Amino acid sequence: MSMGSNQAGHANAPRYEDDVVRLFAVMTVVWGIVGMLVGVIIAAQLAWPELNFGVPYLSYGRLRPLHTNAVIFAFGGCALFSTSLYVVQRTCRATLFAPGLARFVFWGWQLVILSAAITLPLGITTSKEYAELEWPIDLLIAVVWVSYAIVFFGTIVKRQTHHIYVANWFYGAFIATVAVLHIVNSLAIPVGPMKSYSIYAGTIDAMVQWWYGHNAVGFFLTAGFLGMMYYFVPKQAERPVYSYRLSVVHFWALISVYMWAGPHHLHYSSLPDWVQSVGMVFSLILLAPSWGGMINGIMTLSGAWEKLRDDPVIRFMIVSLSFYGMSTFEGPMMSIKTVNALSHFTDWTIGHVHSGALGWVAMMTIGSLYYLIPRVYGQTQMYSTRLINLHFWLSTIGVIFYVVNMWIAGVMQGLMWRAVNEDGTLTNSFVQSLEATWPFYVGRLLGGAVFFVGMLVMAYNVARTISMAGPVEREGKVAALAGGRA
Ligand code: HEM
Ligand code: HEM
Repeated sequence: MSMGSNQAGHANAPRYEDDVVRLFAVMTVVWGIVGMLVGVIIAAQLAWPELNFGVPYLSYGRLRPLHTNAVIFAFGGCALFSTSLYVVQRTCRATLFAPGLARFVFWGWQLVILSAAITLPLGITTSKEYAELEWPIDLLIAVVWVSYAIVFFGTIVKRQTHHIYVANWFYGAFIATVAVLHIVNSLAIPVGPMKSYSIYAGTIDAMVQWWYGHNAVGFFLTAGFLGMMYYFVPKQAERPVYSYRLSVVHFWALISVYMWAGPHHLHYSSLPDWVQSVGMVFSLILLAPSWGGMINGIMTLSGAWEKLRDDPVIRFMIVSLSFYGMSTFEGPMMSIKTVNALSHFTDWTIGHVHSGALGWVAMMTIGSLYYLIPRVYGQTQMYSTRLINLHFWLSTIGVIFYVVNMWIAGVMQGLMWRAVNEDGTLTNSFVQSLEATWPFYVGRLLGGAVFFVGMLVMAYNVARTISMAGPVEREGKVAALAGGRA
């Protein structure tokens, strides 16, 4: 199906509800800056630990979960809310279902983020990675998420089109799965206003946690962003999706395989050996649908490759897809038990994470926002294409510098830790491996800082775009666009 037919270019195009889309888009940039700033701070602390200044609220152990929550759930989350609510209206040719509820989703989610920003530095945590927030916040997340599901699926139900475009399948799977993951993994017995104990214990707890953790990667950081990719790449390239049939195969293969791969996070643990092997095998299989999706995205540009030369937005998207391809090749390799024996505790994992998180997730978000923001603010393009170009180079150089430093550091650490002398004693002490890692920590800090500066450039460009038209004119233009084309 051609994306072109989804344009609201027809006379009977509905007037879209973009208030919440705009709010989430702006907050994506704001939380991106905050989350990445905390990333830069903890990267600096790893090189110079005294940068916590002896203040408990600034200690690495508290700021690290603040970073992961801010970049995944605040930055990534706002990007997913904004784009999904934009895409579902256009592809269904329908106004948002229950716009009042959508506004609740926005404010509810900001409250979740604010609660995280207060409780995590205070040291209030469940200590489950990516699910650190305590039970009252978990309840709020559940309520907000169910409201989001009602708005999204309600819009699908009232659609004017016969077909449900593939981007909505990915967004829909992401919304439904994250609800199940969050509720199951967060089940706990409260023992105080800010303290609870998980209902799971021991190995079961670990298994449920990594079923959650891995699928948070698979559905929050992957399926949702694939939804983004399937709408915004064809739009920006002005080409139909390379193969619609492949996108459907991609969808079903991806969501059925991801669910089983979680045990690769628990290799050589007390998890039964056969479960670890199941996790490894499913991770290897996962390479196929992941690459199917990457190829589908990149090949959407076939016949329009020249756009790569002069359109920095499409470059963001294609580099993002390349990082998606790289990290979904690397992941299956790291899931092989013997490879994981080397990589697990090292910075290789951190390199893998950020090739996915910065390369794939952040760059797809940035590219999509450069398409979306001018359109929801009644403009035809961003204030400055040259600044987008500058941002593109800052991001690309930053992420490459980040991951290359971590790859080298990681493999080096793995090899140093396993090196033994002839008499069986360890060749290197842990401190020696830390000393050898130090230059790479400084290198990663530089890479991260360069990526961060790119986000500041984006913020300036976005602010100028929004202020380009005065408020009155803006409203008029938005209305005209909603009635004409958006
Ligand atoms: C300026 C950009 C960024 C910098 C400087 C940065 C830095 C860091 C640092 C220093 C760590 C801790 C590593 C360790 O414990 O050894 C970390 C962890 C992490 N970051 Fe980032 N980060 C950035 C952007 C992002 C983004 C955009 C995402 C997600 C969309 C992300 C997701 C994560 C995750 C999931 C972890 C935990 C990894 C694990 O536990 O294996 N980061 N980051
Ligand atoms: C085919 C796809 C993928 C597979 C099979 C895979 C596999 C793996 C493996 C084996 C690990 C190391 C586990 C360990 O030693 O503890 C890992 C860690 C991780 N991966 Fe992936 N990966 C894939 C794609 C991605 C993508 C696209 C992202 C990000 C957008 C990502 C984010 C992460 C994160 C955040 C961790 C660290 C988890 C933690 O320990 O905190 N992965 N992955």
